Amino acid sequence: MTHPVRVLGLAGSLRQASYNRALLRAAVELAPPEVALSVADIGAIPLYNEDVYEQGFPEPVIALREAIRRAEAVLIVTPEYNYSVPGVLKNAIDWVSRPPEQPFDGKPVAIMGASPGMFGSARAQYHLRQTLVSLNARPMSKPEVMVASAHQKFDAHGKLADETTARFVTAQLEALAAWARRVGDEKNNG
Ligand SMILES: Cc1cc2nc3c(=O)[nH]c(=O)nc-3n(C[C@H](O)[C@H](O)[C@H](O)COP(=O)(O)O)c2cc1C
Repeated sequence: MTHPVRVLGLAGSLRQASYNRALLRAAVELAPPEVALSVADIGAIPLYNEDVYEQGFPEPVIALREAIRRAEAVLIVTPEYNYSVPGVLKNAIDWVSRPPEQPFDGKPVAIMGASPGMFGSARAQYHLRQTLVSLNARPMSKPEVMVASAHQKFDAHGKLADETTARFVTAQLEALAAWARRVGDEKNNG
């Protein structure tokens, strides 16, 4: 039996009652046996400042870079702000992207997101894919998970209460495990 794929989950919202944080919690609960999903918080990452970078990475950035490096794959759960990725998430990605040893390089990544709107963060997800190209990450194309009308899919305690969405989440994590193994094999073979 091969070990479960170590996946690091990041949510791009800081608010307590966030649908995207709730979706990430649901993913932890729904993770199939082939996935070991842990969560990192981006709340302590400061605003990017090149002057600070030149003095060295701040502690929360070091921790996040390390966590991404140790993970075999990353799951990013993004809200949509003005058709794009929220600043807090982009800021965290910008920090970890700075040299040396950019931790997203070659990393398998899955994306999901939730919005009370009709498009379930689709536009933000495609912007995020563009950023992942810059990072030379290996974003998984499908299955996509775009949770529209999120306010109707979580209960008052932030628990996912929609079976169809739950099935999509599990299916994406299963696919991510396979994708991470495939990318890992490519690396090992060549
Ligand atoms: C600045 C801002 C811009 C937003 N723009 C969009 C948008 O373009 N598309 C969308 O579907 N929702 C948009 N929303 C609504 C968010 O999807 C909603 O606030 C959502 O709950 C945020 O995710 P969270 O619940 O994980 O915090 C916006 C919210 C904010 C605060």
